[in-house]
Amino acid sequence: MKPVNIGILGLGTVGSGTARVLQDNAQEISRRLGRDIHIAAVCHRSEEKARQICPDAVFVQDPFALVARDDVDVVVELFGGTGVAKEAVIKAIEHGKHVVTANKKLLAEYGNEIFPLAEQKNVMVQFEAAVAGGIPIIKALREGLAANNIRSIAGIINGTSNFILTEMREKGSNFADVLQKAQELGYAEADPTFDIEGHDAGHKITIMSALAFGTPVSFESCYLEGISKLESRDIKYAEELGYRVKLLGITRKTDKGIELRVHPTLIPECRLLANVNGVMNAVRVDADMVGETLYYGAGAGALPTASAVVADIIDIGRLITAGTGNRVPHLAFQPSQVKAQPMLPMDDITSSYYLRVQAQDEPGVLGRIANLLAQEGVSIEALIQKGVIDGTLAEIVILTHSTIEKNVKTAMNAIQALKEVKSPIVMIRMESLNGQNG
Ligand code: NDP
Ligand code: HSE
Repeated sequence: MKPVNIGILGLGTVGSGTARVLQDNAQEISRRLGRDIHIAAVCHRSEEKARQICPDAVFVQDPFALVARDDVDVVVELFGGTGVAKEAVIKAIEHGKHVVTANKKLLAEYGNEIFPLAEQKNVMVQFEAAVAGGIPIIKALREGLAANNIRSIAGIINGTSNFILTEMREKGSNFADVLQKAQELGYAEADPTFDIEGHDAGHKITIMSALAFGTPVSFESCYLEGISKLESRDIKYAEELGYRVKLLGITRKTDKGIELRVHPTLIPECRLLANVNGVMNAVRVDADMVGETLYYGAGAGALPTASAVVADIIDIGRLITAGTGNRVPHLAFQPSQVKAQPMLPMDDITSSYYLRVQAQDEPGVLGRIANLLAQEGVSIEALIQKGVIDGTLAEIVILTHSTIEKNVKTAMNAIQALKEVKSPIVMIRMESLNGQNG
């Protein structure tokens, strides 16, 4: 089948990430889409850099020439801002091109102009990457929660601010140093005051508010207060009282109207949102039928954001082709591409383990237990003796590094057989859930 031909405007952090995702995951993407995605043309200030990143694409100096090209079906706008980006998106739509953009500023401020134009021209404007980077929150709000009346949304939706607050709290780092680090890591906007003064979070909560409540985008109604005036003593006092301070975007439907605001907020430390750290984002949606749902993931950075950009291109690729084969497949992949794969028995899974052993409190017992684990190649991450029961039994807690389950079971059997071990060993699997096979 003919590929989906795209033209990319801007090969900065997100643009170059998009090219990389399309290249690295080309096979998996076409298994899902049923056709390839081809970067037909790119526009960037440096031709040399463009040729390095996208060697097979036509280099086009003028963005307005790119959006008019016959060999471009979808324009991917990754310039940012509301200058050339806005004009180029409008021209692209007028030329009958579908648009994918990560530009929340553009949509929060000019969505009421852009969406009706796209509807008039029968093209799609997709913008998953514009809110919370790699988290598919737009899809959740538009599709997954479609059966609900949404009551409120609260989110940590500016990775740069959250990164700064986290580094200040955990390492006592200085505001300016952390901001510079966020810029170097590609998280911050071209003008980082957008991040720290709440504008970026305001753009994102404005878009989500419109999707949640079926209203036009209304950025001018959004209250904005950033983190630049926060003092570390307040963060510390809040902590002593059991709270964390987070920059939240909040929108809520009330009898009187819709609340739309961004400001630093104390959250009880037991809440999941209070424990969202670094550049990570999280959005909590409260809806009448499903109740509370929470979406968590990387809110910025080249590859997470590109993941959302490419998902939008795939969606457009499915929707522009007639025929049932191009609807979202039931099992996510094209039916002909659904293939059985080996399923692992529990003995072969990889995990970390929490082991609790009750043994007689005598010299050498700990050593023997550690030895038996070592014999099976099980490495200990932490080992503590948690007090003595009845004056004779020691309770030993062991955390292991990641290992194969059958090795742990063999070691456990050997430990259980020691005469000093008195009751059945308790084993609980542990997952680091760190996104790296965790
Ligand atoms: P970058 O500044 O890294 O990339 C933008 C690129 O576009 C730059 O290389 C810039 O060149 C180029 N560009 C801008 N205008 C023109 C023009 N008129 N002609 C030619 N080249 C141009 O930004 P990001 O990739 O970080 O952001 C892109 C968009 O994605 C923004 O809307 C941003 O809000 C959004 N976004 C970014 C995320 C991130 O983690 N970075 C996450 C989610 C969304 P030059 O530098 O020379 O101006
Ligand atoms: N500057 C933004 C942030 C990028 O820090 O979250 C993602 O939109």
